[in-house]
Amino acid sequence: MTRVVSLFSGCGGSDAGVIAAGFEVVMANDLLPYARDVYLANHPETDYQVKDVTKVEAFPAAELLVGCYPCQGFSQGGLRDPSRKINTLYLEFARALRAIRPKAFIVENVSGMVRKNFAHLLQDQFKVFQEAGYRVKAQVLNAVDYGVAQERKRIFIVGLRDDLGVEYEFPEPTHGEGRGAAHLTIRDAIGDLPEWPEGEFYARDFHWYYLSRDRRRDWGEASKTIVANPRHMPLHPMSPPLKKLEHNVWRFETDAPARRFSYREAARLQGFARNFIFPDTERSSLDMRYKVAGNAVPPPLFEAVARALPAVWD
Ligand SMILES: C[S@@+](CC[C@H](N)C(=O)[O-])C[C@H]1O[C@@H](n2cnc3c(N)ncnc32)[C@H](O)[C@@H]1O
Repeated sequence: MTRVVSLFSGCGGSDAGVIAAGFEVVMANDLLPYARDVYLANHPETDYQVKDVTKVEAFPAAELLVGCYPCQGFSQGGLRDPSRKINTLYLEFARALRAIRPKAFIVENVSGMVRKNFAHLLQDQFKVFQEAGYRVKAQVLNAVDYGVAQERKRIFIVGLRDDLGVEYEFPEPTHGEGRGAAHLTIRDAIGDLPEWPEGEFYARDFHWYYLSRDRRRDWGEASKTIVANPRHMPLHPMSPPLKKLEHNVWRFETDAPARRFSYREAARLQGFARNFIFPDTERSSLDMRYKVAGNAVPPPLFEAVARALPAVWD
């Protein structure tokens, strides 16, 4: 089997995608202990090391390197400070690239990275990956176009080792009007789950910031972007619609009960398999479950990107 080293692996969204595409993840790494608990409950065969990536001294041999370094600096929700240290973790990815020299690599990150004030960081990533000996391409893809019931735009950076002499082509969208299949909807993803999964959703009030925009989509639509912070999780469609009162001020149309998506619904809307496990461990708080589910790359999207790699493995 073709071997993969995974960095910034979280609970394994990207890795579930490469595994579905037929690869074997030999090593994974993340700082977050509960991310490992979830990962190993689903993929017990991987050597998952919980530590700061800067402390990882050796990497096993692999043909593919994948990694989704954190995105706080770039994301719409986070602080948009292009100088934050967290924005240099791609140098750790480049260190692994030089050590392993895989045939290919795949990086995923928030699409905010293409914004003007981050252009230098994106260019620098291209530069270090090219200097490491790779042909590099990047494209923003929307998960909803690849069989995920969620609008989620992310940038993918894919590199193929220079000596292979081949170019990467991003996969064509498979879902949506005029394509092989229709976009998946919230109903497709979670229609079979209970209406009130007690203990599985964040039940605090909807504060003014939450109600500063429309947070709801209907059963027949794809979800808004799933986030890691439960306070900002979109509304379940059983909630009444929101109407706009004025700029940045929205209100529920009726007093009917309303709630956010549960962490399990969030995972389904991310495209995780129906039997994906979130184990009960000493670290399994509700916030942690939401965090690892919301941080993940939708497995079907990562699978599509991995399947589009040329057959260079033998
Ligand atoms: C966007 S998430 C990755 C999600 C993952 N690829 C998935 O699909 O489930 C980024 C991850 O980087 C991890 N991380 C942040 N800083 C790190 C560091 N210095 N060393 C290792 N992991 C780190 C975070 O804990 C987080 O899980």
